[in-house]
Amino acid sequence: MIAVIGGSGLYDIDGLQNAEWVTVETPWGAPSDQILTGDLDGVKMAFLPRHGRGHVHSPTKVPYRANIDALKRLGVTDVFSISACGSFRENMAPGDFVIVDQFIDRTFARDKSFFGTGCVAHVSVAHPTCERLSDAAESAARDAGIKVHRGGTYLCMEGPQFSSMAESKMYRSWGCDVIGMTNMPEAKLAREAELCYASIAMVTDFDSWHPEHGAVEITDIIATLTGNSAKGRALVQRLPALLGQTRAACPHGCDTALEHAIMTAPEK
Ligand code: ADE
Repeated sequence: MIAVIGGSGLYDIDGLQNAEWVTVETPWGAPSDQILTGDLDGVKMAFLPRHGRGHVHSPTKVPYRANIDALKRLGVTDVFSISACGSFRENMAPGDFVIVDQFIDRTFARDKSFFGTGCVAHVSVAHPTCERLSDAAESAARDAGIKVHRGGTYLCMEGPQFSSMAESKMYRSWGCDVIGMTNMPEAKLAREAELCYASIAMVTDFDSWHPEHGAVEITDIIATLTGNSAKGRALVQRLPALLGQTRAACPHGCDTALEHAIMTAPEK
């Protein structure tokens, strides 16, 4: 099953057959919202609005563990994260999409692991996104006529305030390409849950480093999101046909991430 976690501006997906909002309970509490399930091109799909319908969870308060756990319980294998981001690059302009492949995690007020009490595990997130899903996201974006950049480092900040100009310039000097508030710990938890994960970030602004663009304003972000939401929807529509109905083993090992990661001795 393919899942889409929708960010700001994306609260459902089009054209689902047998569409149903289902309630999923998890040991980590309730996910952000019910999960929309159904079929697209004969492929089982799940859609979760990250901030909840009505945008009720701030980036810090999104129940990341419950969200990933709920998708796993539904039988999801492949997760596409869609989110808004600011850009640190002149050539990554508002309206462009970036298929993110690396992260710098600067969040500090979120639960980041399923492990730690009773069972300790250290998974690798050296390559935190799945190349197979990123290939599909790139093809879907190109086919939908979207200007897309393959690869990019996403700095995840705690928020909810945007960065100061000094922070923005520092992140740029670190080699970051885009900035957002939600992909961490989501990507780490997906890896712990042995789910393939790809991140599609839509540029809404130039953060606050750019001499000609001034400070980030949420009204500008919303205007860009609204103007470009059709692109995100068009991209999602193309994913099932690209990935097909059967879920093969991940060629990059995302689905076996725990194999050598658990430290705790098995119970006798
Ligand atoms: N989301 C969209 N634009 C952003 C920015 N500039 N900083 C953090 N999160 C964002």
